[in-house]
Amino acid sequence: MKDFNPTQKFDKIEHNGLEVRNLNIHIGDVHILKDVNVTIPKNKITCIIGPSGCGKSTLLRTFNRIIDTTEGVKIDGDVLFGNYNIVKSHGSKLIELRRHIGLVPQRPCPLPMSIFDNIAYGCRIHGIRNKEKLNAIVEHYLRNIGLWDEVKERLHTPASRLSGGQQQRLCLARSLAVEPSVLLADESTSALDPISSKKVEQLFVDLKRDYTIVIVTHTLQQAQRIADNVIFMYLGEVIEQGTAQEVFNNPQKELTKRYLNGAFS
Ligand SMILES: Nc1ncnc2c1ncn2[C@@H]1O[C@H](COP(=O)(O)OP(=O)(O)O)[C@@H](O)[C@H]1O
Ligand SMILES: [Mg+2]
Repeated sequence: MKDFNPTQKFDKIEHNGLEVRNLNIHIGDVHILKDVNVTIPKNKITCIIGPSGCGKSTLLRTFNRIIDTTEGVKIDGDVLFGNYNIVKSHGSKLIELRRHIGLVPQRPCPLPMSIFDNIAYGCRIHGIRNKEKLNAIVEHYLRNIGLWDEVKERLHTPASRLSGGQQQRLCLARSLAVEPSVLLADESTSALDPISSKKVEQLFVDLKRDYTIVIVTHTLQQAQRIADNVIFMYLGEVIEQGTAQEVFNNPQKELTKRYLNGAFS
């Protein structure tokens, strides 16, 4: 990884991670997230764990407000991030905010275009047209995620021809190219084979120096390998949160202990 980003083009946001206060989410009449209070520390990997249906994705999807696309959703509370209150941002503020908080999709989903254009896409949308600059950006991010040597001879071929693992790394590069400060990933290795999965995992570990990372993990083992901080959820509530060391080695709540012992999986 390079020490500085020669392609830097957008202002970075001053922030200290995310602070979630009294967050409640209803979808229709159903109370999905119940008075959630959590802290997501800057430049660490925070893993959200818990059994299926407990609200992990809903919480993650609130952080860049992609949750707004869910019909009948009602959000109360605050999610503080730098000078923003994520819950209360609208219009151009919200568009700005979404650039700062990138979401890595669950399944690799390259855009139906070339490898090059997949990475240049977001930059073009944000007004960068200069060819040399785009070339530099594409190379920088492909190197960043360790894909450059694998694809440099075929940058202008369809991204859909890459393997699943390569596609997922490409999607990660696409998210990084618009220079977010926070990266959200929802089970983004669940569709990958074990080797590709480890590669993406290692990338997150390398990236935390420059990004605040929040990951919904589909396996406890993954959280145990990479988490600095852990949030354990159950039925829409945060049961326990703390450093990985605290939560995994010395859980305070009975429910956490039972989950860690495999009672719900
Ligand atoms: N669009 C929706 N409409 C109604 N209920 C939903 C919707 N999306 C999620 N839910 C419900 O919200 C709860 C939490 O879901 P989710 O956040 O996806 O859980 P997880 O990611 O932990 O598996 C579940 O009970 C789920 O059925
Ligand atoms: Mg989910």
